[in-house]
Amino acid sequence: MGSLGDLTISRFGYGAMQLAGPGVMGPPADHEGALAVLREAVELGITHIDTADAYGPRITNRLIREALHPYPDSLHLVTKVGATRDAQGGWPQARRPDELRRAVHDNLDSLGLDVLDVVNLRLGDAQGPRPEPIAEAFETLVELREQGLIRHLGVSNATADQVAEAQSIAPIVCVQNMYNLAQRHDDALIDRLADEDVAFVPFFPLGGFSPLQSAALSAVAARFGVTPMAVALAWLLRRSPNILLIPGTSSAAHLRENVAGAGLVLSDEDVAELEGTGR
Ligand SMILES: NC(=O)c1ccc[n+]([C@@H]2O[C@H](COP(=O)([O-])OP(=O)(O)OC[C@H]3O[C@@H](n4cnc5c(N)ncnc54)[C@H](OP(=O)(O)O)[C@@H]3O)[C@@H](O)[C@H]2O)c1
Repeated sequence: MGSLGDLTISRFGYGAMQLAGPGVMGPPADHEGALAVLREAVELGITHIDTADAYGPRITNRLIREALHPYPDSLHLVTKVGATRDAQGGWPQARRPDELRRAVHDNLDSLGLDVLDVVNLRLGDAQGPRPEPIAEAFETLVELREQGLIRHLGVSNATADQVAEAQSIAPIVCVQNMYNLAQRHDDALIDRLADEDVAFVPFFPLGGFSPLQSAALSAVAARFGVTPMAVALAWLLRRSPNILLIPGTSSAAHLRENVAGAGLVLSDEDVAELEGTGR
């Protein structure tokens, strides 16, 4: 098991972004199938679901509510604010205090909750983190937490300096940044956060829209008789105890495959072979 502050969650979680339509816009082609994936996740023991009202927009949160509300006590939903959507499917930032307040209320409404377990302030843009001040936006979320609308805070798509800036204002329980076998720029940050008992939650753990591929990944997967996806997830679980997984899928079969596969135990030799991928 893992933790987000005082919340105990499964280290293997689920990222709900893939449930919206193409380009994370509009409803899924298979509405019942999307509900089935969410219910399957909970049946498999997953107690951490990552979402955002920007997915769809408002589609993914409503699917989660339709599939799972009233939520089991053990289930914890993590959402993000700080970006919205435009008509072209872009992700313009929405980090003014009034936009953040509205986004928190919209998430409460679409998820059917009185309190959000964890809210990440999503920084930067679709190209990655940007070195810019975050104090005004983060302080707005701290106010909303003090009002009792949010239990815990985190940051996403953040530079190491922005993580430190947030921590100088208020405690955070997680950082959600892009990281996987081939994208290792947050290695030092992960180790620092592990020392501080702050979770690191990689987005695009399987490479996102460009699936991870490497000869080493395929060779190790073939030895275990599992998919390369399973090996990529098992490597993340082994990389550091503060890493929590939120791989995305719109397929119940892939979800089952990933949960089962990520349980494999990699040897030191397997890890040495895989470590070449991102260097
Ligand atoms: N904070 C941020 O800015 C940010 C940005 C992006 C994402 N996120 C979060 O991170 C989560 C994970 O990211 P992600 O879903 O974009 O990327 P991901 O988990 O790296 O990869 C998802 C992709 O892998 C495929 N996949 C999953 N399991 C598979 C399997 N066993 N075999 C073959 N293909 C498989 C999925 O396709 P199928 O649907 O066909 O399985 C999907 O296309 C998201 O759901 C979201 O919650 C956050």
